Amino acid sequence: MNFAVIGLQWGDEGKGKIIDILSVEADVIVRYQGGNNAGHTVVKDSVRYAFHLIPSGVLHEDKVCVMGNGMVIDPLALLHELDELRSQGLDVSPRQLKISENAHIIFPYHRKLDGFRERLRSNRIGTTGRGIGPCYMDKYARSGIRVGDLLNPKLFISKLKDNIIEKNGIYRQVFGYDGFSEEEIAREYLGYAEKITPFVCDTVSLLHELWREGRSILFEGAQGTMLDVDFGTYPFVTSSNASVSGIFSGTGLPPKALDKVIGVCKAYTTRVGEGPFPTELFDDLGNRLRDKGGEFGTTTGRPRRCGWFDAVLVRYAVRLNGVDEIVITKLDVLDELDEIKVCVGYRLGDEVLKTYPFDIEVFSNVEPIYETFKGWKTDTTALRDISDLPREARDYIDAISDLVGAKISMVSVGSDREEIIRI
Ligand code: GDP
Ligand code: IMO
Ligand code: MG
Repeated sequence: MNFAVIGLQWGDEGKGKIIDILSVEADVIVRYQGGNNAGHTVVKDSVRYAFHLIPSGVLHEDKVCVMGNGMVIDPLALLHELDELRSQGLDVSPRQLKISENAHIIFPYHRKLDGFRERLRSNRIGTTGRGIGPCYMDKYARSGIRVGDLLNPKLFISKLKDNIIEKNGIYRQVFGYDGFSEEEIAREYLGYAEKITPFVCDTVSLLHELWREGRSILFEGAQGTMLDVDFGTYPFVTSSNASVSGIFSGTGLPPKALDKVIGVCKAYTTRVGEGPFPTELFDDLGNRLRDKGGEFGTTTGRPRRCGWFDAVLVRYAVRLNGVDEIVITKLDVLDELDEIKVCVGYRLGDEVLKTYPFDIEVFSNVEPIYETFKGWKTDTTALRDISDLPREARDYIDAISDLVGAKISMVSVGSDREEIIRI
């Protein structure tokens, strides 16, 4: 059986932990979009692993991990991540990790443009500054350079030359930037090529072979549905299809290769960067959620904005992705609260909205309509069976399940692999 694990909010739902757990049931774990804007944390035996590019299933050494063609890869970040994992005792081998020759490469001029554009915009997005958007811009402008190009120095240099001429001309005119040296970048990147080559292959053919052999494939989503470039809170989104729709273009497998969709959502909501967030808490409660939930970005260390669970958004994400079951994470973060609110609709003047409005102007001006639940005031982190959960906690997760229209398959009550309740 092949299944996808997708974030249903604005990212950081705890996908990494859930992918690590579900990897036991898979033979292959494949990332299909995004780059090192992602930060997926897995805690195993109290050791914390942070994944940015490498699939979160890599802790299971017998699995094949694939970085699909839909990804954008910064080779420096990749080598750094491999080094970090090595220093934690995990030597990721080319047998274990396969990188698509068709994935696009992030260059210094992408990272630079990410910063320039943010500074010039009147409405900042609050990107991770990793060059993700500019790299996808080049992909769709057909001037991108792909991993496979790195293996052919002559072709690589001619493509790089075209890019440098264009970038230097534009950056000088628009941003007053002195320019990039083609020689320096070529030397740097051809150096990376040597180290990365053993991992590179035709992942489309590989995935098709594995699928035909009946191996189980787990599609690892990065970011979340509300950051999807088509279906999220545009323009405050990332530059790829983080929702289920990115899987097919990002791996080369067809829709019928996907049997099940598992959506991951936090028991409350967080967001990093700018953009509307109706249930955001600006008071002490928001700070309490941030502190208790450790809500600081895995990638940039930025404090995450925190707020109540928004059932309107998650219901939209459940429908959009065709979610079969949901996993609720970080229930333990709510353990000490007297009462907990859930947004069940939006008010806009005299109007009540029950569905997510695509118009960002409307979405920026809605007021949440809340239903209030009684807190359980019990430490849930040691609980492993649903029947052990306090009545109020069960009422809360049952209400979420009803409101978003999906059954719950797991509830996470701590960051460690073991801290999970299976239903
Ligand atoms: P991802 O990007 O969706 O993989 O999520 P992140 O790893 O960026 O953020 C989730 C954070 O919450 C990480 O630090 C996890 O270790 C942690 N986490 C995951 N599940 C739970 C949980 O159930 N309870 C608590 N307290 N922390 C959790
Ligand atoms: P994971 O996989 C949370 C946010 C950024 C910014 C917007 C655009 O860990 O859930 P980008 O650098 O992608 O152009 O930034 O998207 N963002 C994330 N927020 N989790 C992520 O990934 C994110 N990846 C990007 O903060 O608001
Ligand atoms: Mg994250």
